[in-house]
Amino acid sequence: MRKIAVFASGRGSNFQAVYKKIETGEIKAEISLLISNNPNAGALDFARKNIIPLKVVRPADFESALLFGNALLSSLKEYDIELIILAGYLKMIPPNVVKAFPHRMINIHPSLLPSFGGKGMYGMNVHRAVFEAGVKVSGITVHFVDEKYDTGPILLQQAVDISNCISPEEIAARVLEEEHQYLPLAVKLLCERHVSVEKKRVLFGD
Ligand code: GRF
Repeated sequence: MRKIAVFASGRGSNFQAVYKKIETGEIKAEISLLISNNPNAGALDFARKNIIPLKVVRPADFESALLFGNALLSSLKEYDIELIILAGYLKMIPPNVVKAFPHRMINIHPSLLPSFGGKGMYGMNVHRAVFEAGVKVSGITVHFVDEKYDTGPILLQQAVDISNCISPEEIAARVLEEEHQYLPLAVKLLCERHVSVEKKRVLFGD
């Protein structure tokens, strides 16, 4: 049983989508820990209701990224975490944590990377930029986390037709439906298949 930590800063609907697939037995894993930087995150309420261990670790409480990373690493070690899922986590992951989880940490991004990614491109900022650009297709990307924003090797992408969407909010809602399908799928693949990375390409074996 793979032990997973989810990092979430907000309402946590992606966290819940993964949790549900684990509960139904579709993913053979355990969410052993929820970490949030935000004491008011909805994700924390869900964890409390479902008796999932949780920690609030705020970067502002540490003097450096290194010390913030050390605090995260000690919680991850305490719960024997093998895999990290960033599900709407809005803080930069410190380099020492990235190094400790090579190809064992994934993020969901609500656009087709490398378009509409990078610093400041999260949540509604992404959907507003997509809307303003007038593109007809957006989508989701699940990628490994490296030391920059949204640049790690891509595991899965799914396109979403947004040609009929009349607002960024409508795009967000359409894309979120796909996030809830594809983030759990990526977790399942990581737990069940042999995954290798050649340069930027992610390959799934048996
Ligand atoms: C999602 O759109 C996710 O792609 C992005 O932040 C949002 C989080 O939503 N990174 P939720 O907290 O999972 O409901």
